Amino acid sequence: MFVRRIAVVGTGYVGLTTGACLASLGHHVVCADVDAEKIKRLTNGEVDILEPGLADLVAEGLAAGRLSFVLGAAAAVDGSEVVFLCVPTPMGVGGVADLSVVESVLEEVAPLLPPGAVVVNKSTVPVGTAERTAELLERDDIAVVSNPEFLREGSAVHDFLHPDRIVVGCDKQDAAEKVAALYARLGAPTVLTDAASAELVKYAANCYLAMKLSYVNAVAELCDRLGADISDVTEGMGYDKRIGQAFLNPGPGWGGSCLPKDTSAMLQLADAADFEFRLIRATIDTNNRQRQRMVEKVRIAVTGKRGGSLSKVRLGVLGLTFKAGTDDLRDSPALAVSALLRQAGAKLTAYDPALRSGDPRSDLDGITVVDDPYRAAEGVDALIVLTEWPEFRGLDWAKLAAVVNRPVVVDTRNLLDPDVLRRAGFEWNGLGRR
Ligand code: UGA
Repeated sequence: MFVRRIAVVGTGYVGLTTGACLASLGHHVVCADVDAEKIKRLTNGEVDILEPGLADLVAEGLAAGRLSFVLGAAAAVDGSEVVFLCVPTPMGVGGVADLSVVESVLEEVAPLLPPGAVVVNKSTVPVGTAERTAELLERDDIAVVSNPEFLREGSAVHDFLHPDRIVVGCDKQDAAEKVAALYARLGAPTVLTDAASAELVKYAANCYLAMKLSYVNAVAELCDRLGADISDVTEGMGYDKRIGQAFLNPGPGWGGSCLPKDTSAMLQLADAADFEFRLIRATIDTNNRQRQRMVEKVRIAVTGKRGGSLSKVRLGVLGLTFKAGTDDLRDSPALAVSALLRQAGAKLTAYDPALRSGDPRSDLDGITVVDDPYRAAEGVDALIVLTEWPEFRGLDWAKLAAVVNRPVVVDTRNLLDPDVLRRAGFEWNGLGRR
């Protein structure tokens, strides 16, 4: 089913992906943002988010006349039957999601929405926001629907077009069905529910993923202590269909713009409901500890002993983004571990395929970023892999061995082939690997 016009407010990776993908499904979509320069670039088909397939979909939508970009939410909602809110909900004071952007958009558009329009919340928002949105709108004829997104950065287009499920929550059945119908061509299982349940699905899913990762990181630590091998353990676990193979790779801790924010928000949500969600607290604590554990691994690899000094030790860092396939540094575990290594006195030179030297982002303070992995390795006492960029596997490890001061690798992603490294003369240290 096609509606006359869909508005998408916010052109971040969720909004732009939603707009471009809905247009690719045949809908007419108008995307809005407050950034005039960005709107100009998008109108010219220039996409500045690193998201595979997105630029092509934007170009296709523009060429087909089904996708357009306008400055400001007011211009987009005019004449739109369905309005998607895809604006940021960052972690605010005390870990509670900050809804000020959502609120200011609602204030702006409330008097402009056509009669009978549906407002869809795609931003991750606390349970109860749909109800609050309806109150703020002060319009009985407008339905508010919660339709959480499950897109991963770096595969957002793929995830949108091949969803595991669509979740639509609204107390008005016809509005929920209207939103669900927008995705009908995707053929995904659809959960139609009330708004509060839909809002909770998002938190419950992200917290479960974080919990899975904290669990696997703890099991990897146990493997280190017991002489077992985490890759065999997770393979053996993952064949159980109730567990599955996905999201079982140990690492330096989970990060990014979603899992840390959503686990904190879940704690607050539970707290406000007078429930102590200890499992989530333990999930977060385990993640913070994981970063310290990575530093300890480096200390042992470099000095040969627990608690060994890293003062003036030179380290080459491979990967700074929060995961591979993105240039996003927000809440990056790689940066958190790097900061701890610097605090311990180490000097860091880093290479990341998605970053250039001179990157203005302040989080990089004190880390020298270079444009070539071989330069990052020059004269270092150890190389530390912190992000799982596949290209690191294909580096010329013999060449790297020739430029380092000491041929030691700490691979916090279990990314590299230990045999290849050993043949090149490196000592390889992974997580929970024999
Ligand atoms: C996450 C969820 O996976 C999406 O379903 C959700 O829609 C999104 O948040 C969101 O709320 O918008 P994303 O933040 O893009 O997606 O990142 P993930 O791919 O989930 O990775 C999160 C962190 O876990 C990264 O630091 C990653 O390196 C780490 N990770 C992931 C591991 O350490 N091991 C794994 O096996 C998988």
